[in-house]
Amino acid sequence: MGNYTEEIHKRRTFAIISHPDAGKTTLTEKFLLYGGAINLAGSVKGKATARHAVSDWMEIEKERGISVTSSVLQFHYDGFCINILDTPGHQDFSEDTYRTLMAADSAVMVIDASKGVEAQTRKLFKVCVMRKIPIFTFINKMDRDAGDMFELLDEIEKELGIATCPVNWPIGSGKSFKGVYDRNKEAVITFSDTEKGTKEGEQTIIPVSDSDKLIACIGEEYAQTLTDEIELLDGASAEFDLEEIRKGELTPVFFGSALTNFGVEIFLKYFLEMTTTPLPRKADIGLVQPTEKEFSAFVFKIQANMNKAHRDRIAFMRICSGKFEAGMEVKHVQGGKNLRLSQPQQIMASERKIIEEAYAGDIIGVFDPGIFSIGDTICMINDKFTYEGIPTFAPEHFARVRQIDTMKRKQFVKGITQIAQEGAIQIFQEYNTGMEEIIVGVVGVLQFDVLKYRLENEYNVEIKLENLPYEHIRWIENKEEVNLDRLVGTSDMKKVKDMKGNPLLLFVNAWSVGMTLDRNEGLVLSEFGRE
Ligand code: G4P
Repeated sequence: MGNYTEEIHKRRTFAIISHPDAGKTTLTEKFLLYGGAINLAGSVKGKATARHAVSDWMEIEKERGISVTSSVLQFHYDGFCINILDTPGHQDFSEDTYRTLMAADSAVMVIDASKGVEAQTRKLFKVCVMRKIPIFTFINKMDRDAGDMFELLDEIEKELGIATCPVNWPIGSGKSFKGVYDRNKEAVITFSDTEKGTKEGEQTIIPVSDSDKLIACIGEEYAQTLTDEIELLDGASAEFDLEEIRKGELTPVFFGSALTNFGVEIFLKYFLEMTTTPLPRKADIGLVQPTEKEFSAFVFKIQANMNKAHRDRIAFMRICSGKFEAGMEVKHVQGGKNLRLSQPQQIMASERKIIEEAYAGDIIGVFDPGIFSIGDTICMINDKFTYEGIPTFAPEHFARVRQIDTMKRKQFVKGITQIAQEGAIQIFQEYNTGMEEIIVGVVGVLQFDVLKYRLENEYNVEIKLENLPYEHIRWIENKEEVNLDRLVGTSDMKKVKDMKGNPLLLFVNAWSVGMTLDRNEGLVLSEFGRE
């Protein structure tokens, strides 16, 4: 055990974002394989049978073979201690997916070479930009036929508004995928297909200056194309600039194939070199450095009932400074109480492991007797400060909730309020009316089922959900200056308020948002709710 600053400097904490099926799980698996955390790729696989065996959280998960939880994986590689935050996709896309990004210092964006930028990537990317999170791009599935890579880079730049800087460059794709050209080393690394799950194929490294060997290896035609493309890249692509990368204004781009395990280790090595050690965090007392001796953390996610047998609630915290030791006494700032964090856990895939110590950059899950809220600060008992809050993200699906048995009003209100506090759903009320009518907003539709299931199972309340056509919600940034009663909206617009009484507007389409802005001079709307 080195000293605690050494431990902190070893840490790299990042999230992997992608559209479902781009290869996030496969890439994560290969990372773990290099780290020696698993022996055979396949053990992280979140699909079908594999997960049923280890996770018993919620029937929904079992029935549908999807995971409602997002996990944190820790492994060691080349002297680094790496924390990967998985961002749930598919239907289990939820606000947690966004919040996970609040706990990361950088993000790896996996893009399917033949599909380009897809919806979910776009959404997650927006959050990265808001937080200026550095983004590293891995263009996956090069072993399948892909289009023109220059066009793909153009698409990334245009669609996402970030400059790209290829660190390596593919030679061919699909059956004729030959390997990648490393621009730094000015060498070609050739591809050899390997059995799924084996560690790595044989790699030959050929300097491009050795043209005879290059032609012998990839053929004259590909060698010529490569020479042309290198020229084009050198002339046209953005210069590599670590400062800009760290500010999230430039993304380094890598190419490879997670499935056949090509380009993964090259990517991992460069990525670890380029990404940051745990970053300082903004608090009301200024920036808190990770290397400060005193332990501090914030809660970015709360998960109820992960294990039905335990019926517990876990608060996930990102450690922002110092060292954490099991059983230490800390202050929960928002709750105004001191407490002992016992049984801290690291969640490895769906298994839990009790940990004794953890450092800034790490994520721990602690047992929550129902006291924590998203964004809460934990610090040493002699300290008192709060970390900058976590924004509320715009739900995209809305439904009116009706209770079937109106006698159970109290349980209903209690249940729905608690579930909203955990951050799984957001609840709104009609503006100007009482609690009679509740509108629920969610980021992913699965959360509706989760809500229904949990109200029935935990609070014994049956509900009916009636879908509403709204797709856009906006917070009013300058609510003090706006008279809500006089706001001129479109006919489809609905005024609501959140649990804290903040006014919000619901719209059926983006056009109405624009129209309402046009009709009300000075109105400032936001897609993120600040505290
Ligand atoms: P996700 O986590 O982003 O949703 O994607 P995941 O890794 O589960 O990959 C989705 C599918 O794409 C999987 O196929 C996987 O094997 C495949 N895949 C991932 N990386 C590559 C790659 O580099 N090249 C090719 N050709 N395929 C890749 P599946 O058929 O859905 O699952 P499985 O039956 O292979 O497990």
